[in-house]
Amino acid sequence: MCASAGARSCLRPGRLARDRDCAQTFPRSAEFRTIASVKVGVLTGGGDCPGLNAVIRAVGRRVLTNAGEFVGVREGWKGLVDGLFQPLGLQELSGLLPRGGTIIRTTRTNPYKLDGGVERVMEHFEAEGLDALVAIGGEDTLGVAARLYEERDFPVVGVPKTIDNDLSATDYTFGFDTAVFVATEAIDRLHSTAESHNRVMVVEVMGRHTGWIAVMSGLAGGADMILIPEHPIPIEEACAQLRRRHERGKDFSIVVVSEGYELEGTSDSDDVDEFGHVRLSERGVGAALAHEIEQRTGYETRVTVLGHIQRGGTPTPRDRVLATRYGLKAAELVEEGKFGRMAALHGDSIVDVPLKEATAELKTVPPAWYDVARAFFG
Ligand code: F6P
Repeated sequence: MCASAGARSCLRPGRLARDRDCAQTFPRSAEFRTIASVKVGVLTGGGDCPGLNAVIRAVGRRVLTNAGEFVGVREGWKGLVDGLFQPLGLQELSGLLPRGGTIIRTTRTNPYKLDGGVERVMEHFEAEGLDALVAIGGEDTLGVAARLYEERDFPVVGVPKTIDNDLSATDYTFGFDTAVFVATEAIDRLHSTAESHNRVMVVEVMGRHTGWIAVMSGLAGGADMILIPEHPIPIEEACAQLRRRHERGKDFSIVVVSEGYELEGTSDSDDVDEFGHVRLSERGVGAALAHEIEQRTGYETRVTVLGHIQRGGTPTPRDRVLATRYGLKAAELVEEGKFGRMAALHGDSIVDVPLKEATAELKTVPPAWYDVARAFFG
């Protein structure tokens, strides 16, 4: 008899293996692969990110190959709150590798912030006849997944997505490589115009409260100064570095700043989303920094805010491959009934880790990485 009688895991005996209480009474991985009509849902939540469609394709191909049914839950958690579903067959999964965005759309809906939201998630999941859910998202989306699993025994597995690369428990999230590629290309382009005009060009990149995109694109693009939230530098010191550079005959400079950098004089609006996040682009750190640099050094300075260009368009080959490996791993976790887990990259291996661990803390840029960047300042 199942130890957690009444829990969700016991409602469909014989269909899905559960790693926790009921695993011994349900079929294990090899058996599961032969079971037809298992229905797997997939959702994408939070900001979109290059590679989402590649994950959807990989999960779906694996599910359909194993004679299961595959369903897109539209618009993130909103799709389960409101019952928005879209069957996904081989036709829909075709041509997705190079396609940016997400074919099943996304929102930042948090069911825990809505009256009866969680109950509606459970009801729609049940009414649609779903057996498992693959949630592709960052800290917020996976935080909801972890909580549903812990509190409701919800059969969910996670895939780590975000251009910010700020999720602990995985070395890299997919989407990050593309964002770094886009930002690097922009920095390359800004070099020539900066040089032509003897200007300082400030480039504001995304990344929320971590500086991964700034450090990697700044390093790759040869930035002369990189400012990230984890390792603040007094503005006067940053300007002194730029002056030193100009004194040694370099009449232009590139400064990369992360949107979450805290510069004196900047502040955030009171507007927060359902997960409590402010819109950091409105902080306007790039413009404020450009103003400060011009005032303090006298060098003509311009700002470029890269914004959502970093998130749009086709994923790099590296992101397509990583997304595909994550998708296959997620499908495998479903087959094995290993719910409450997330696919993760450790070194070169795809492993699985507890969802809870993945969202426990922010993965910040360690000092050693920043030292590499700092070696080229000024
Ligand atoms: O988390 C991804 C991200 O692109 C952040 O880098 C950025 O701060 C935020 O999303 C922007 O969100 P929105 O698309 O809602 O403006």
